[in-house]
Amino acid sequence: MSDTAPPLALSGSKDLLARAARVDATLAYSGYVLQRDRLVDGEYPVFAERASGAYVWDVDGNKYLDFILAYGTIILGHADPVVSEAVGKEIREGFAVTLRKRVQVELAELLTSVVPGAERVFLLKSGSDATSAAVRVSRAHTGRQRVIRWGYNGWHDWCANRPGGVPEEAQQVVGTFTYNDLDSLRAEFEAHPGEIACLLMMPFEVEPPAEGFLQTAADLAHEHGALFVLDEMRSGFRMSLGGAQEKYGVAADLVTFSKAIANGYPISALVGTERVMRTVGEVHIGSTFHVNGAEMAAAVATITQLRDTPVLKHVEVLGEQFQEGLRAQVAASVLDAEVVGVPQMPFLRFTHPDEDLRARVQDAFYTETVRRGVLLHPNHHWYVCGAMTEEDIRKALDATAAGFRAAEAAVRRG
Ligand SMILES: Cc1ncc(COP(=O)(O)O)c(C=O)c1O
Repeated sequence: MSDTAPPLALSGSKDLLARAARVDATLAYSGYVLQRDRLVDGEYPVFAERASGAYVWDVDGNKYLDFILAYGTIILGHADPVVSEAVGKEIREGFAVTLRKRVQVELAELLTSVVPGAERVFLLKSGSDATSAAVRVSRAHTGRQRVIRWGYNGWHDWCANRPGGVPEEAQQVVGTFTYNDLDSLRAEFEAHPGEIACLLMMPFEVEPPAEGFLQTAADLAHEHGALFVLDEMRSGFRMSLGGAQEKYGVAADLVTFSKAIANGYPISALVGTERVMRTVGEVHIGSTFHVNGAEMAAAVATITQLRDTPVLKHVEVLGEQFQEGLRAQVAASVLDAEVVGVPQMPFLRFTHPDEDLRARVQDAFYTETVRRGVLLHPNHHWYVCGAMTEEDIRKALDATAAGFRAAEAAVRRG
């Protein structure tokens, strides 16, 4: 007897998608925006009505336990009341004025007190703002042009992961390497002696760094006269208060943050040592909205809670419980799969060598989990947030157990 869940009612999402297709380029040209995130066609909701804590309700009234969490911008939980109150106060008082708001100084003081090595702060809006600012500062600081980068660092010319619309010259001055492979990194430095302005990288994506890898990478950058820049957009304010620098005991010249820093509000930060950040005065970096106090108030309210409560420990423990449960399910299953990622950002990777079969297994698994009200991303690591409870993790594991059964049935069907 099959115990698969019935399909979700998604007509509201589908109607809105049809309307969007006529006017909204982000959704109409779904070749990139939607297929990049290819969840499971026709099975996942597209439009949300509201979100609270660990849960999201779609426009059809379906409720989901959310492990996508707006790609990691949510660390406390959706619509966190303390953050909402702080933002509401700024909004009521007028948050978009030419004069600076007091909260800008408060946020800079807070960031320099919790981020290792941070002596100066430059506030921006998006992640790409911050990584591009880091590259510009590095180039001006060293008088060099070339960049070595690793991971997803944004969409600007120097790091777009599709070549369309990007001048060749912009691509030619950026190199990359294989993660956790020091020889490939060394080769990139040695191929361009005296030309590298910075090594800018995520500290990890799914695989954690090998012992000593980040420190050796930083040392290599410095030996070659380059700056070492950590892109902590995902790890920052999720792994630990001091981010990957604190977790792995490595020091960067510049660090970029966004996402969890303000529990969903659009703000990013470039932070670094005074010696390097002083170069900000020699370059053009700007944003009309960078004076807005509402997002800064959100960041202060978020970071203060992360600092003063055990929420990050809670996130780590829940992530460990989730990974442990998933590992037991993988061990009991005939499917080729592995549990990867750090506890705060876990992931289940299907590894069957046959691509078609792997795709069918994946679709069956994620169809079942979303139908059971758990939002998991098939192609991107997941996120755990502070509003989740042990009961939520049990619920998620019940859904993934059913997902394994559905995927095994798909294999049996051949
Ligand atoms: C590690 C990392 N760096 C940079 C970015 C770019 O941020 P944004 O999309 O806000 O420009 C992202 C976005 O996902 C990211 O994950």
